[in-house]
Amino acid sequence: MSRFAHPAGDRHAEVLPEDRPPHAPADLNSIDPVIWPRTSERIAGSLTIGGLDVRDLAKEFGTPLYVLDEHDFRAHAVDFRQAFHDGEVHYAGKAFLCREVARWIMQEGLGLDVCSAGELAVALSVGFPPDRITMHGNNKSIAELEKAVTVGVGHVVVDSFEEIARLGYLAEKHGARPKVLIRVTVGVEAHTHEFIATAHDDQKFGLSLSSGAAAEAARRILAMPSLELVGLHSHIGSQITDTAGFEVAARRLATLLVQIRDEHGVELPELDLGGGYGIPYVDGDESPDMKVIADALREIVATVCQSKGLPVPRLTVEPGRSIVGTAGVTLYEVGTVKDVEGLRTYVSVDGGMSDNVRTALYGADYTARLASRESTAAPMLSRLVGKHCESGDIVVRDLYLPADLVPGDLIAVAGTGAYCRSLASNYNYLPKPAVVAVAGGKARVIVARETEEDLLRGQL
Ligand code: LLP
Repeated sequence: MSRFAHPAGDRHAEVLPEDRPPHAPADLNSIDPVIWPRTSERIAGSLTIGGLDVRDLAKEFGTPLYVLDEHDFRAHAVDFRQAFHDGEVHYAGKAFLCREVARWIMQEGLGLDVCSAGELAVALSVGFPPDRITMHGNNKSIAELEKAVTVGVGHVVVDSFEEIARLGYLAEKHGARPKVLIRVTVGVEAHTHEFIATAHDDQKFGLSLSSGAAAEAARRILAMPSLELVGLHSHIGSQITDTAGFEVAARRLATLLVQIRDEHGVELPELDLGGGYGIPYVDGDESPDMKVIADALREIVATVCQSKGLPVPRLTVEPGRSIVGTAGVTLYEVGTVKDVEGLRTYVSVDGGMSDNVRTALYGADYTARLASRESTAAPMLSRLVGKHCESGDIVVRDLYLPADLVPGDLIAVAGTGAYCRSLASNYNYLPKPAVVAVAGGKARVIVARETEEDLLRGQL
């Protein structure tokens, strides 16, 4: 396939991996506790989350609906905090952030990563302590930097020479001295269980280790009295399921720590290894044990630093997906069931790529179930599609649903807590769905469904 001729339209779905279709699951009604939110169970056939029947949720709040299991979210936050008890855990707000989630993060004692003035505003609006916030971004505006400096965020991760100069100037202007980490491009790229350790640095983020740009950044920051260089940062990818890539990254970062010590006599006290811990999406995926990962990372950093005669820096991690991913489920109502003779059945739901673009964008895989009832019907090879005017509008590319599926049935898609609402769009002028938090048999709207009025706001 030519990389220049992107096959849109009819053939769009064929761009995705070819190891399909998968086998039908042994039980079409099963709710695998690894993939679904911790409080999920079928009661009298219907899926319940947080003690609430999805049929009641759909009736009260409409569909599509993002359902967020508060208990699952908080439990993951606590798991991380305990696993990294001697370090820092900063939730990466880009995975999903709203005011209520910022409160949960604050209550559970985690820090927060933001990468725009908007994310920062959400956090500050609920009184999130600025000193527990890290400001990210490869092209922060002057206004964003100035806001970060004046509210006193805990750390700014600098990503370019221009930014060092801008931040230094702004800090001096406001009589501040922000703590700074250098975003280092370590030449490691990791996705799922594979990682590539390369010598080149072909990406927009960070300052290259191999070219000497990162060392030069340290020189420039250390020469600025208004900035306090406290450490190095790297983020090697997302949905990573082993620690090999982090190990290479940590080794490479340690060489820079040594270089900075030797050149400037400064031992940097902090190391931030970013986020990227994978979560289970489909049968056979494993749930990461954060304690095991934390112990491995700690061991890697300690060994690498001790071998270079460096004091072991304080470790920070920035999980996003692995805190919110499995806590979220999207509920849809089936509108049409169209059998394409000899191929598969197209099941259309009332949302699609505007509320979950990950399948179209990354070829992501999800698990979905008939949620409003149980069925003993035979498995039917299906494609779960949305209602957008685009053939690539696929929510789950290949899945088995019971053959007696009918319009009005509710389908739940698991693992949609991360990067679904935050990447949502208004394509075809669809209002973004509400986000409802469920816990202990109670549901609360934490982000309201958009209305037509919202869609028209601001237009001439
Ligand atoms: N820290 C930094 C600097 C990051 O850039 C990211 C994610 C994270 C932490 C959190 O990574 P996580 O633990 O959530 O994997 N939209 C894509 C994912 C993009 C990740 C961007 N950076 C997706 O839907 O898969």
